Amino acid sequence: MVKNETGHRKSVIVTGASTGLGLEITLYLAEQGFNVYATMRDLSRRNLIDTKAMQRGLKIEVLQLDITDRNSISTALETIIEQTGEIFALINNAGIGLRGYFEDLSEEEIHKVFDVNLFGTMAVTRAVLPYMRSAGKGRILIITSVGGLIGSLGVSAYCSTKFAQEGFGESLSQELSPLGIHVSLIEPAIIKTERWGINRGNAKGAHDSGSLYSEWFRKSEILADKLVESSPTTPEHVAVKVYDALTARRPSLRYMVGYRAGLVVLLRRYLPHKLFDRLYFGEAVRRVTGYRKAFR
Ligand SMILES: NC(=O)c1ccc[n+]([C@@H]2O[C@H](COP(=O)([O-])OP(=O)(O)OC[C@H]3O[C@@H](n4cnc5c(N)ncnc54)[C@H](OP(=O)(O)O)[C@@H]3O)[C@@H](O)[C@H]2O)c1
Repeated sequence: MVKNETGHRKSVIVTGASTGLGLEITLYLAEQGFNVYATMRDLSRRNLIDTKAMQRGLKIEVLQLDITDRNSISTALETIIEQTGEIFALINNAGIGLRGYFEDLSEEEIHKVFDVNLFGTMAVTRAVLPYMRSAGKGRILIITSVGGLIGSLGVSAYCSTKFAQEGFGESLSQELSPLGIHVSLIEPAIIKTERWGINRGNAKGAHDSGSLYSEWFRKSEILADKLVESSPTTPEHVAVKVYDALTARRPSLRYMVGYRAGLVVLLRRYLPHKLFDRLYFGEAVRRVTGYRKAFR
């Protein structure tokens, strides 16, 4: 399943492979025998992947690719086509965070998170499609999030980008399946990565003491950190689902990663809406504001 008709290893491109989930997906797929192109916006950050690849005895190609820069996308893809003649799969993983209550987010910050998470993902996808169409096959994966299914306070803009990715992928899968190209959405729960450290993406205004929301945001961040620290889900869990989506004869549209998030999504599906809203969203609001009846 990891080799094409000519007996060569299938080529897979991963965006945002310098760290976190992208790094683990790259290493795992290379270990399973794929020919993985690890791409990153800043090649000076390739040290980690080079070191880990060497430790695991893997050969991984590293290319520069900023998903918001059309030239860098086409240069990277042309290089892969020149070297291998095909792109079997694209893993849209690169993304940034934006944290803060909505009124504390600037227009500029909101545009930036959409530019990367949504328009960047669309741009790379658009660029690989001609190659996949002419091959009559291909796989496009998008690392969305459980935050693309359930919104949370303090991350309205980020969740909007993830809901948008979900809508994009779900629609695109219908357009492309007759052409032999499968789209899958990988929906991880909270996982401890750089996302919760240096790449946290707190909005400039989120901690502004003059903001009505700053105290609520501070408390919501403490809650988020507790969830991160206690999360049983790991980057490898995501990598395994990615592998499943690449090797299944008929890949699913959705792969959820993390049983806690899966449980919440199930509750939302089967509980009466009003009850779920009161229990789940109401509890979040109560925990950060202290108001027992703050939600509906
Ligand atoms: N961790 C979680 O809890 C979690 C949960 C659900 C979904 N996700 C999603 O999973 C994906 C990976 O997240 P992560 O946790 O691994 O985050 P991370 O550790 O912050 O890694 C994000 C990666 O994206 C790259 N990136 C950012 N902007 C880019 C751009 N314009 N072009 C190319 N690469 C860019 C970063 O590159 P630099 O090294 O240059 O910054 C980094 O490699 C994201 O889409 C995220 O939304 C994460």
